[in-house]
Amino acid sequence: MYPWHSRLVCALQLASSVLAASFAPRHDNSHPATHCKAVPGTAGWPSPRDWTALNESLAGRLLQPPPPGAVCHPGKKSYNAAECQAVRAAWSSYEFHANNPISVDWDQWANESCLPQEGAPCSGEGYPVFVINATEVRHVQLGVQFARKHNIRLVIKSSGHDFLGRSNAPNSLSIWTHNMKWIETHDSFRPSRCKVTIDHTAVTVGAGAHMWDIYSALDALNQTIVGGGGKTVSVGGYLTGAGHSLLSARYGLAADQVLEMEVVTPTGEIVTANECQNTDLFWAMRGGGGSTFGVITSVTMKTFPTPEIEHVLMGVVTLDVANTRAIFDMIAYVLSQFPSLGDQGLSGYAYFSPAIATSSPDGSNVTVAGLFMVGILQNSTPEAMRALWDPVFAHVNATWPGMFQALYQPRSYPSFLAYFAEIYDRSPAGRSQYVGSRLLDRAALTDDLAKSAAAWERFSNASVASAFLVSGKGVFDAKPRGCDGNAVLPAWRKAYVHATLGVVAPPLNPAGRAAARKQVQERVAALRELAPGMGAYMNEAAFDEPNYRHEFWGSNYERLLRIKRAIDPDDVLWCTPCVGNERWEQVGGRLCRVD
Ligand SMILES: Cc1cc2nc3c(=O)[nH]c(=O)nc-3n(C[C@H](O)[C@H](O)[C@H](O)COP(=O)(O)OP(=O)(O)OC[C@H]3O[C@@H](n4cnc5c(N)ncnc54)[C@H](O)[C@@H]3O)c2cc1C
Ligand SMILES: *[C@@H]1O[C@H](CO)[C@@H](O)[C@H](O)[C@H]1NC(C)=O
Ligand SMILES: *[C@@H]1O[C@H](CO)[C@@H](O)[C@H](O)[C@H]1NC(C)=O
Ligand SMILES: *[C@@H]1O[C@H](CO)[C@@H](O)[C@H](O)[C@H]1NC(C)=O
Ligand SMILES: *[C@@H]1O[C@H](CO)[C@@H](O)[C@H](O)[C@H]1NC(C)=O
Ligand SMILES: *[C@@H]1O[C@H](CO)[C@@H](O)[C@H](O)[C@H]1NC(C)=O
Ligand SMILES: *[C@@H]1O[C@H](CO)[C@@H](O)[C@H](O)[C@H]1NC(C)=O
Ligand SMILES: *[C@@H]1O[C@H](CO)[C@@H](O)[C@H](O)[C@H]1NC(C)=O
Repeated sequence: MYPWHSRLVCALQLASSVLAASFAPRHDNSHPATHCKAVPGTAGWPSPRDWTALNESLAGRLLQPPPPGAVCHPGKKSYNAAECQAVRAAWSSYEFHANNPISVDWDQWANESCLPQEGAPCSGEGYPVFVINATEVRHVQLGVQFARKHNIRLVIKSSGHDFLGRSNAPNSLSIWTHNMKWIETHDSFRPSRCKVTIDHTAVTVGAGAHMWDIYSALDALNQTIVGGGGKTVSVGGYLTGAGHSLLSARYGLAADQVLEMEVVTPTGEIVTANECQNTDLFWAMRGGGGSTFGVITSVTMKTFPTPEIEHVLMGVVTLDVANTRAIFDMIAYVLSQFPSLGDQGLSGYAYFSPAIATSSPDGSNVTVAGLFMVGILQNSTPEAMRALWDPVFAHVNATWPGMFQALYQPRSYPSFLAYFAEIYDRSPAGRSQYVGSRLLDRAALTDDLAKSAAAWERFSNASVASAFLVSGKGVFDAKPRGCDGNAVLPAWRKAYVHATLGVVAPPLNPAGRAAARKQVQERVAALRELAPGMGAYMNEAAFDEPNYRHEFWGSNYERLLRIKRAIDPDDVLWCTPCVGNERWEQVGGRLCRVD
């Protein structure tokens, strides 16, 4: 109604927050803090009585779980041959790691310290020492206060999906938010202490709610959220990182939908962050990253009417796998169409490779090369979907006559949930996998196809890589609540494609892990050179991305760092690669100050 007025209010709010942050007391020297965080067996580590007292204050919710793989190790107290079989069978499932208080999806982040394999070492040294099975906000608060008081490394684990290892650490106290699963829907929502009511449907979920829980609850109301592609992804890590979705092209990123968060700050206060209070925190926690500025206990976000989904599984493939030049020229051409296909409403996940082992209808093994995509349109028709692809197929046939076959399997679904139930991410967990990624804008995809073909070939390195079309107009035009938007990496606002890869290292093989890391770096470098001004989506990027502060947060980094210093002067929360981690480093299993 009065745009000048709201703009003025915003300008004042921003100015005062910048001033407040720059006048924030400098705590750097106020705690002549010990050099390292306490670990078991050192004088600083809390006594058994301290732990018992913590457990009592938590009504007995403090756990000291054995490593999940210990059931497979005859020397261990929890050894159990039958359970070992079950754990081994479940090790590749996301549910297993999410439902276990300390297990994480990717073995290297627990230092492969107790794999469920006979003959493997089982020290459990990669895991937290104690865990709070939190079900209430108060449990989170008690955990944060205890870690702060006793100078213990603190980690937050929800699902344990993190590709960068941020939800686990050795010698730590972990707060496990998995059981904070409440879900409450709203026809409209008034953020606490705001005068405005936001005239939009919304949902408030506890920090442990999974995508599947939320999608299912909302489907009963014919609604959905901008959510992720894995059933067990939880809001804590997803939203704080940005959160891409098949619905993002229309509505924006998940972080753009947030209306309010309840947060336990690193000093142990329970606060509400929204556009009217704790606005710096509200800004930072939507894109600044997980386990850095506080612990989310619940979050309220917009919901949308569920779309009908028009789906296609399409492919452009060839048996002529030796002709890599033509294969990558074709791949670069199809990917160059993504900006225009995205502008027409398409989103989806594409996978490409110069060599995919598969079986032909007669059961024989064949190797094919090319690109596949699962793509969707919202509230559309099979004809509209086909019309998007016909010109692409025609161009491929005209350019490389007879070389490629088109594969095209359309299908319609009545709701997002009906669709999601079939296509959710089923890739296996339970291995040491290193990922890498890059965001690509229109220019990188379309300007110079000879150059992009060479980059895609290097990025693929003879194996499968992916290009997710999960951004577009909705992300570019998003209007997140609050004066100054949110802390999502600005490159997202012009990216069409989030290109990703994963390299699996052999177990218990340090040289193999080093080679996998190196391979990720070399492959990602191809796209960094193709799109030097962009960046990478922190939740699905290489943990050792060079210059990650710039690549994950861009021009937001300085402000994020000021907010981190103001809200967490003592570095109660610390992770890497995370905002404000400069003052500490990991030395073996310890976290110590940088001199
Ligand atoms: C199968 C699969 C599918 C995926 N699909 C998508 C997708 O479609 N789109 C997308 O954007 N990403 C996707 N991701 C990536 C996902 O966003 C990240 O793995 C994210 O870190 C998961 O968050 P989490 O809370 O479930 O995991 P966790 O590993 O438990 O936590 C991740 C990080 O967030 C912190 N954290 C967790 N809870 C809280 C909290 N309550 N408060 C503060 N910090 C917290 C943790 O400490 C850690 O730093 C997918 C991942 C997997 C494994
Ligand atoms: C915490 O207390 C409960 C209930 O008394 C007990 O079962 C549990 O073992 C205790 N936890 C620890 C780590 O001692
Ligand atoms: C954690 O708490 C929930 C809720 O009380 C309970 O059902 C579950 O068994 C607990 N988990 C563990 C591992 O103790
Ligand atoms: C959801 O949509 C179905 C089909 O259109 C309709 O029958 C049902 O009443 C709707 N439910 C709600 C809660 O709106
Ligand atoms: C196809 O490959 C699989 C896995 O490599 C192998 O087990 C199978 O025997 C092969 N089938 C044929 C028909 O060659
Ligand atoms: C090219 O045309 C042939 C013959 O019409 C067809 O079989 C093939 O699928 C087409 N390829 C593509 C990529 O459209
Ligand atoms: C794959 O990477 C290796 C190691 O960097 C490199 O030697 C090789 O040329 C690459 N292969 C392709 C097909 O790009
Ligand atoms: C991981 O394990 C190795 C021994 O297998 C050990 O040297 C190293 O310090 C451990 N790392 C951490 C972070 O605990």
